[in-house]
Amino acid sequence: MPNPPLLVLFGSQTGTAQDVSERLGREARRRRLGCRVQALDSYSVVNLINEPLVIFVCATTGQGDPPDNMKNFWRFIFRKNLPSTSLCQMDFAVLGLGDSSYAKFNFVAKKLHRRLLQLGANALLPACLGDDQHELGPDAAIDPWLQDLWEKVRRLYPTPVDLPVIPPGVPLPPKFTLQFLQEAPSASSEEPHGANPDPQGPPSALQPFLAPMVANQRVTGPSHFQDVRLIEFDITGSSLSFAAGDVVLIQPSNSAGHVQKFCQLLGLDPDQCFVLQPREPGVSCPSRLPQPCSVRHLVSQYLDIASVPRRSFFELLACLSPHELEREKLLEFSSAQGQEELCEYCSRPRRSILEVLCDFPHTAGAIPPDYLLDLIPAIRPRAFSIASSLLACPSRLQILVAVVQYQTRLKEPRRGLCSSWLASLAPGQGRPVRVPLWVQPGGLAFPETLNTPVIMVGPGTGVAPFHAAIQERVAQGQTGNFLFFGCRRRDQDFYWEAEWRDLEKRGCLTLVTAFSQEQDQKVYVQHRLQEHGPLVWELLDRQGAYFYLAGNAKYMPADVSEALTSIFQEEGGLSGPDAATYLARLQRTLRFQTETWA
Ligand code: 2AM
Repeated sequence: MPNPPLLVLFGSQTGTAQDVSERLGREARRRRLGCRVQALDSYSVVNLINEPLVIFVCATTGQGDPPDNMKNFWRFIFRKNLPSTSLCQMDFAVLGLGDSSYAKFNFVAKKLHRRLLQLGANALLPACLGDDQHELGPDAAIDPWLQDLWEKVRRLYPTPVDLPVIPPGVPLPPKFTLQFLQEAPSASSEEPHGANPDPQGPPSALQPFLAPMVANQRVTGPSHFQDVRLIEFDITGSSLSFAAGDVVLIQPSNSAGHVQKFCQLLGLDPDQCFVLQPREPGVSCPSRLPQPCSVRHLVSQYLDIASVPRRSFFELLACLSPHELEREKLLEFSSAQGQEELCEYCSRPRRSILEVLCDFPHTAGAIPPDYLLDLIPAIRPRAFSIASSLLACPSRLQILVAVVQYQTRLKEPRRGLCSSWLASLAPGQGRPVRVPLWVQPGGLAFPETLNTPVIMVGPGTGVAPFHAAIQERVAQGQTGNFLFFGCRRRDQDFYWEAEWRDLEKRGCLTLVTAFSQEQDQKVYVQHRLQEHGPLVWELLDRQGAYFYLAGNAKYMPADVSEALTSIFQEEGGLSGPDAATYLARLQRTLRFQTETWA
């Protein structure tokens, strides 16, 4: 069968570009246009020379970089030896997703658009620049742009007369069929998380390691505002391998209470089993789901019912609703004009899919199970900096987890799915507690040359990767470990205090602390850095030290960078612009590395 003409390729970091690409796929299906939707790095890029029509959907990450899943494509497309007529057969459009509060707003989309023109491709319209900062999110730019795009595409590929466009309001057919079984299969056929009991190769997203949790200890004092846990897994026999700076990915589950509520609302029997079958050629079943699978397994471990629903959720739900009033409201939420109201109802207060379904009970009770996988996204794994070193603790993997909980205008506090789930697990009480996980390289890599000094700045849980690095470096006999740690009060959230003190005594560590709430004025790590300006300059400029920064992404990274540039000016006598260039050079040569999280 020939490939359908339209190809949507996406580079996505947090899932938004993928979501937008799937929307394009759905809109194309409504227009009876065959459409393939693929991640850029899973597409064989040499085939681009045969594609007639490609829409690129690309996010720009913080520093103006392309997302991880388009890095190979990026390298390829900017090769110098590509002829300027390489893509002259191709019509294209670029849809960018960015954030105008960053300096390099939609840098990837703009650069890609220019490059495709250089390679001879024909732009159907100017690049779309979606902006997270807009009140209505990226859709504010995407909606009108898509209207133009579909109009242009309609002229190039008119819809066959015998296949009319499927109007909004009529659901597209579901991607899968859930074929319910009369009898439940024997219990043993369903491994938790669909993990392969006899894995090949190291653990991965497809074959996570079910790691026994061996410790789950609150490490913040009783009066501290936040519950932070030091969690430890036994990884004996897992073939997991990692170095300091790497991250572990954890696949969380929904709580039993949420699963029960969801099943009740939808009238599903959690114990019933089904076999999943794709309805279209080229669509494969999610490999994380066992076959056959129970409804309980599907809901607890696959459907992200605790996430905040996107607009596409309301679009499909409106199509499926048999209840006039509810349907009217859902249609409003899925319309372009209803986006402000939807934002007020859902995104701002962080209302979850489960809560929305509770508000639309007649619709929830009428959702055909076949549509569940179209309606609700899959639970994403969460990344945590690994806090232990294999060299120091060969059969253990530790993480430091701040349990996410906050209040919005909704009565129930919002809780982070993964951190709350991890915190709720109690090892050592009867049945072993197992957590599906695997590892991947993180954003921090430490120098292998002997005795290159490292300066590590890690306030709060940002200290986790440095705990691993210091353990590892001390085990290797590396000297020159400088840690700047910040927390609120030494008796409440000073993680690993005893261990640091011991290392200091042994001459393996220089520790500088900033306790922000032990005096009237806030004292932060950047203030301590500045106080130690001469040492920091000496280490960086004379001794070739590496500088690392980890922790909360909000203000701290910018504040620390500012402190550094002012040290370069004061201690190195550099001008403002030269200090900025000096920092940029450290970054380029990987002597300034950061790992931050929201
Ligand atoms: P605060 O909560 O008292 O404001 C770990 O969270 C530590 O980082 C806390 O002591 C916290 O202080 C501090 N912190 C908060 N904002 C910061 C910033 N912009 N730069 C550095 N540290 C910060």
